Amino acid sequence: MNLTANAQAGFLSSFGYAPTGVWSAPGRANLIGEHTDYNNGFVLPFGINFRTYAAVSLRTDRICKVVSEIDSRVYEISLDDPKPTGLDWALYPLGVAWVMRDKATSGFDCYITSDVPIGAGLSSSAAIESSMASALNELWGAGLSRKELALIGQQAENQVVGAPTGIMDQTASMMAQNDAAVLIDCQSLEITVVDLGLSKHDLVVAVIDTQVSHSHAHGGYGSRRTSCEVGAKELGVSSLRELSLSDLPRAQSQLDDETFRRVRHIITENQRVLDTLIALREGHLASLGRLLLESHASMRDDFEISVAELDLAVETAMATGAIGARMTGGGFGGAAIAIIHKDKLAELANNCELAFAKAGFKAPRVFSVTPSEGAKREL
Ligand code: GLA
Repeated sequence: MNLTANAQAGFLSSFGYAPTGVWSAPGRANLIGEHTDYNNGFVLPFGINFRTYAAVSLRTDRICKVVSEIDSRVYEISLDDPKPTGLDWALYPLGVAWVMRDKATSGFDCYITSDVPIGAGLSSSAAIESSMASALNELWGAGLSRKELALIGQQAENQVVGAPTGIMDQTASMMAQNDAAVLIDCQSLEITVVDLGLSKHDLVVAVIDTQVSHSHAHGGYGSRRTSCEVGAKELGVSSLRELSLSDLPRAQSQLDDETFRRVRHIITENQRVLDTLIALREGHLASLGRLLLESHASMRDDFEISVAELDLAVETAMATGAIGARMTGGGFGGAAIAIIHKDKLAELANNCELAFAKAGFKAPRVFSVTPSEGAKREL
């Protein structure tokens, strides 16, 4: 059964009637540009062929109920309640409803199903937010644009879930295109579709999910964001986006070592995104590979958000003949991506399994992803 039919059937058995519609949205992988989004910089993500499906119908009262395949509990809030807390995974969809409550015409019933790996750094949460926001936008007749819906998803994450994340994941999930990545200028939210052109070289994007799960609601993610804000303030700019490679000597002389390294990651990463665009346009695979590896090294050494499993995934991918590889997403666990010949995928999976076992790590999951379109109505 496909996931649209799953969502329909799950809705029917949970609520005893058929849903009005089913809306879906993809998870994302980020080719390059990490932690640059909340510094108003550049990111280059793409939607993946793993999606979340939300089957939804409006109710006649003000109650909003969500159920999912992963747990049979019904979570609910009233549109008149104060900001929701607790609620486990349901805080993501109900957080979206709460953020959009001034557009609400009534409450709703919702059933969610998804094949986006959870906690793998592939934005399963943004996929939930974007499918929910798309459904409510249509059912409530809110008339919001895709960019506005992405901002609503981010607000749900920031204000309700309490994760101080940027705008990349929700924008990717809302705006992604088939067979392409999207360059997002996180200052203007301007989008440029970028052809990846990998298939003509028989290359695929492999994901190595380390199975080390992360959460951005606490800890390292927030402290990295704070360091960037401190660095920008001390250097007299409103965001690190305003700085370029030529500012590095000044940054080094003005900042403490740790803040400098955080700032250096952002400045060099923004440049790497721009250089990646050139490499892709010119079909220069060696440069693309080098940029991915430099990005990983910068996250490992300067931003310090990699973990041993991610470093091993990158090393193993390169030893298997990948063009380039790097951790993707927020870090502290999750997944690495590798660009590799399609015929080497099985060898990569095997090599990762062996290397992880040897290091005493949990077995990783290795699979390929294809760039897929953003949120849409399925039914
Ligand atoms: C997480 C956040 C994004 C972004 C990435 C790192 O995925 O949700 O906003 O900051 O980490 O690039």
